[in-house]
Amino acid sequence: MKKVLLVFLTAIIVSVLMACGNNETAGNNNENNNNNSENDEVTSDGNDYKVGLAMPTQSSERWVRDGDNMKAEFEALGYEVDMQFGEDVVENQVAQIENMITQGADLLVIASIDGEALTSVLEMAEASDVPVVAYDRLIMNSDHVSYYATFDNFQVGVLQGEYIEDQLGLADGEGPFNIELFGGSPDDNNAYFFWDGAMSILQPYIDEGQLVVQSGQTEFADGATLRWDGSLAQDRMDNLLSAHYSDEDIDVVYSPFDGISRGAISSLTAVGYGSDDKPMPIITGQDAEEASVKYIISGEQTQTIFKDTRELAKQAVNMGDSILQGGEPEINDTETYDNGAKVVPSYLLAPVSVDIDNYEEILVDSGYYSEDDLE
Ligand code: GAL
Repeated sequence: MKKVLLVFLTAIIVSVLMACGNNETAGNNNENNNNNSENDEVTSDGNDYKVGLAMPTQSSERWVRDGDNMKAEFEALGYEVDMQFGEDVVENQVAQIENMITQGADLLVIASIDGEALTSVLEMAEASDVPVVAYDRLIMNSDHVSYYATFDNFQVGVLQGEYIEDQLGLADGEGPFNIELFGGSPDDNNAYFFWDGAMSILQPYIDEGQLVVQSGQTEFADGATLRWDGSLAQDRMDNLLSAHYSDEDIDVVYSPFDGISRGAISSLTAVGYGSDDKPMPIITGQDAEEASVKYIISGEQTQTIFKDTRELAKQAVNMGDSILQGGEPEINDTETYDNGAKVVPSYLLAPVSVDIDNYEEILVDSGYYSEDDLE
């Protein structure tokens, strides 16, 4: 009996000692992370603060990178991170955010699935005093959005439109060329910015007849692609090709996002585009997703827009860190992003157009991808 008691007591003492050890290690981890981090901007000690990261989907590679980058940056500052992906189901994301608030999150960083569907859950965040940073996509109809970290979304569209303009020599009067137009998801505020930016360049050429939209589908609503879904884009491209391009070739596909571009490419290659007598049309894109950069190298896709998610993550983390540490987040735009309830102070990063001529310099030399990634 004595022996049993001794073993039992020893076990208790050992586990108490181990628990103390763990606590120490946890504390040291934060310090180590701070000391070892390569990020010069690491300044604070996020001890005891919890950050909820609500991301839209893992089905597009960019959001996985964004999430991983932010998580690593927050953790390097010593914050505890709860990252959830809503997998493009709005109700999932709302439930995940509710859960983060209930679990005591001190800050929410949200890349919304449907920017118009978060008004109530943000009321809950407001009632619990949890500040919110909108990540890349603006959250609409709520005054409880503290800051917005994104890219210059109008400029994204301008770069895509200018690329088409340059490639075709439209400013020199070339044409007519056949073009079809895709839009992004109608529940994502960015989609309108991309479209408006692109149309600021393309519309005059459509009006002049240098660009011809054989389908007549020239409004955003005609080309919108719910949830940016590549398979919907593929279906639409199938329909456009069979209804309007049996006698004509298509010269350009304006696509706002790589996933949509790849959907269109599947449809085009299925009917013989990409061969010597039927070259691929010019196809734009966005996000420099690995699969699309490979397509640019092999000639199926023509262009994409690189948005450095490492920089965006840093910016959002700096914003969140400043809010929690009582500082002033860095912003560079206080006019553009009216979400219906307020103009949200924003930080806009610069997008970069990428094609076969500069992908190595922009994507490989900067370490975003290795040569091996792109093989
Ligand atoms: C937008 C974002 C784009 C693209 C798209 C689809 O909100 O700004 O870069 O990722 O969603 O995911």
